[in-house]
Amino acid sequence: MIAFVTANEGKFREVSAKLLDAGVRIVREDRTYPEIQTDRLEKVVRFAATVLDDQVRGDYLIDDSGLFLDALGGFPGVYSAYVYKRLGCAGILTLLDGVSDRGAAFQTVLLLRRGGDHEVFHGETRGTIADRERGAGGFGFDPIFVPEGASKTFAEMSLSEKNAISHRARAVDALVAHLRGPKEP
Ligand code: IMP
Repeated sequence: MIAFVTANEGKFREVSAKLLDAGVRIVREDRTYPEIQTDRLEKVVRFAATVLDDQVRGDYLIDDSGLFLDALGGFPGVYSAYVYKRLGCAGILTLLDGVSDRGAAFQTVLLLRRGGDHEVFHGETRGTIADRERGAGGFGFDPIFVPEGASKTFAEMSLSEKNAISHRARAVDALVAHLRGPKEP
């Protein structure tokens, strides 16, 4: 059994539903861990794993994600949690007030510790930042992110709609492919 170490209920809901569809059951371990300041999500999860390795028994999974705005050189990116806490969705809308380039991407890096090894899986979804907050579903910056090819924000989508196209779901797809191992020739 894999423990998903996260204090974020929304992440657990999405990842557990997606993994259950693939026949993989996980449990939630509700705890926080240190998140270093660095330039890449992968470095955040790799450092966190060095701490969690001593604290968590058995296989575990962690998720670090961020919202990268094209017009702001990728900001807030790895600083998304801090920016969300201080400024929220409204703050992002203010930062982009009058800015025509509203392109953005969500990225997720998952780290799986299994049998003493660390494996990482990446997922990205491109989209645009809406003019205003829309929808009550999801969490975090979901009310302002419209994924490419959609007209709804993530917050206006059901769990399964978000899980069909999200950055996190794509990282989970890569994780599932890894768990299934190489295809038979
Ligand atoms: P972290 O991965 O917990 O560091 O999350 C970074 C920030 O991005 C937090 O404020 C989250 O709420 C937000 N965030 C992470 N994933 C998503 C998502 O799928 N949708 C919207 N916001 C997200």
